[in-house]
Amino acid sequence: MKIRLENKTDYAAVHDVNLAAFGSEDEANLVTRLRQQAQSYVSLVAEEKGVVIGHIMFSGAHLSADPKRCVMALAPMAVLPEFQQRGIGSSLVKSGLEHCENQGYGAIFVLGHAQYYPRFGFKPADSFSIDSVYEVPAGVFMALELTPGALEGMAGRMFYHEAFDAL
Ligand SMILES: CC(C)(COP(=O)(O)OP(=O)(O)OC[C@H]1O[C@@H](n2cnc3c(N)ncnc32)[C@H](O)[C@@H]1OP(=O)(O)O)[C@@H](O)C(=O)NCCC(=O)NCCS
Repeated sequence: MKIRLENKTDYAAVHDVNLAAFGSEDEANLVTRLRQQAQSYVSLVAEEKGVVIGHIMFSGAHLSADPKRCVMALAPMAVLPEFQQRGIGSSLVKSGLEHCENQGYGAIFVLGHAQYYPRFGFKPADSFSIDSVYEVPAGVFMALELTPGALEGMAGRMFYHEAFDAL
């Protein structure tokens, strides 16, 4: 299994992976919108024997405390059901964080499973006094500083790219 940057020939397979993992077109369509509309994004695939079996996307997001600063939001992430629970999702997250760090992003946000993302270093975003526009249970909106201190003094709200509005 290898993780690599998505290319145009992967688009149909990435659509199918998201559809199979989520059971709806919503996330697959979000990926399409982000490719078309987001100024910055990272889209990676997990490939085994030439077949795309997983996908992860990060897109530029903004903080109310400093609208010029671009941070990244992790979403969506999907692994084909028959390949789940084998560490592929974790490999996608780790590789994605490296790509974001190499591109100079200081922080990543995610809305997701509170037992899963802390293993990569994510902490509840409220520990940085940052909330999201979505009303979610405490602990599921999380943040990770790739650059230590990147979120200091950034109290306020994080805004996803507007492509998320239609989700
Ligand atoms: C989330 C997902 C990508 C993880 O992929 P994966 O290859 O199975 O991940 P890994 O094998 O690295 O890790 C599996 C772990 O993630 C946990 N996990 C991750 N997301 C979870 C979720 N939404 N609900 C419950 N458990 C979740 C599993 O319980 C498991 O925990 P364990 O290691 O303690 O047993 C995959 O389960 C998936 O495609 N789910 C459907 C789509 C989805 O919910 N995406 C996330 C929201 S964007």
